[in-house]
Amino acid sequence: MTAILETRHFDLYYGRRHVLKDISLAVHPNEVLAVIGPSGCGKSTLLRCFNRMNDRIPGVRTKGEVLFEGRPVQELDPVVLRRQVGMVFQRPTPFPMSIFDNVAYGPRMHGRRDPERLVEIVETSLRRAALWDEVKGKLRESALALSGGQKQRLCIARTLAVEPKVVLFDEPTSSLDPAATARIEELIEEFSASYTIVLVTHDLGQAARTSDRTAFLFDGELVEIGETRELFQRPRDPRTWRYLSGADERGAQSARLGRMRRLRRGRPSQKAGDASR
Ligand SMILES: Nc1ncnc2c1ncn2[C@@H]1O[C@H](COP(=O)(O)OP(=O)(O)OP(=O)(O)O)[C@@H](O)[C@H]1O
Ligand SMILES: [Mg+2]
Repeated sequence: MTAILETRHFDLYYGRRHVLKDISLAVHPNEVLAVIGPSGCGKSTLLRCFNRMNDRIPGVRTKGEVLFEGRPVQELDPVVLRRQVGMVFQRPTPFPMSIFDNVAYGPRMHGRRDPERLVEIVETSLRRAALWDEVKGKLRESALALSGGQKQRLCIARTLAVEPKVVLFDEPTSSLDPAATARIEELIEEFSASYTIVLVTHDLGQAARTSDRTAFLFDGELVEIGETRELFQRPRDPRTWRYLSGADERGAQSARLGRMRRLRRGRPSQKAGDASR
């Protein structure tokens, strides 16, 4: 299977600090790949490599390759790359403007001016982010007045408005309450029909519930990557085992739960179980 995103023997240094170490991994089209690991192990740094967000950080040096659809990201225009590889951050940060303008911002930046088309894009994006019903009567009101969970769904709508192929989520629910978290998790599961998702999370239950495969990073190394259920139930590396058992005993239970939910929804179980992926 051709990877949509890939790193090959990728190293990253912040100054003299070696933060990502010889990482080779492939992200497959339409999968949800969770990235887990202790704080400071390099998860966010890895995520930012995929759409060249590290380029903005002074003192960053890299070795090896990052590919999007088989092409080195360094050869791509960052603006075009980031349109196709969108990102949702830990803290929802709507722009200080109306709900409508937040969602229309990206399409406008990419040259869409036709007002009718913009109205359509805004509605479709808000529907996909499951926010439409809550905001359809107040599109011209400030986005800053929304609740935390609504703001995060607005940021998701904003990302979807430019029709990305990949959405990178960096701990998208860590500032949200359980109800808002559950809604975002449902969205992530739904999205895998249309998008490829890379989800960084500290919440092992979330990784287990939403992802097809999981990658475990430790101290800048990719320790193991595999089908989520497999990795949670039968980790191969003692470091993974220690992390999973220490951090959250419920992770394995949730993995089983996640699989049951996928089966109930009729999602092919092979998707997660195909060893060739
Ligand atoms: N801009 C930066 N300049 C220098 N060092 C950095 C920078 N950003 C991150 N680091 C360091 O790189 C390492 C990896 O950071 P990163 O933010 O990728 O970890 P993480 O796994 O996302 O952690 P967390 O779970 O806490 O978000 C850490 O040691 C961090 O201190
Ligand atoms: Mg991080």
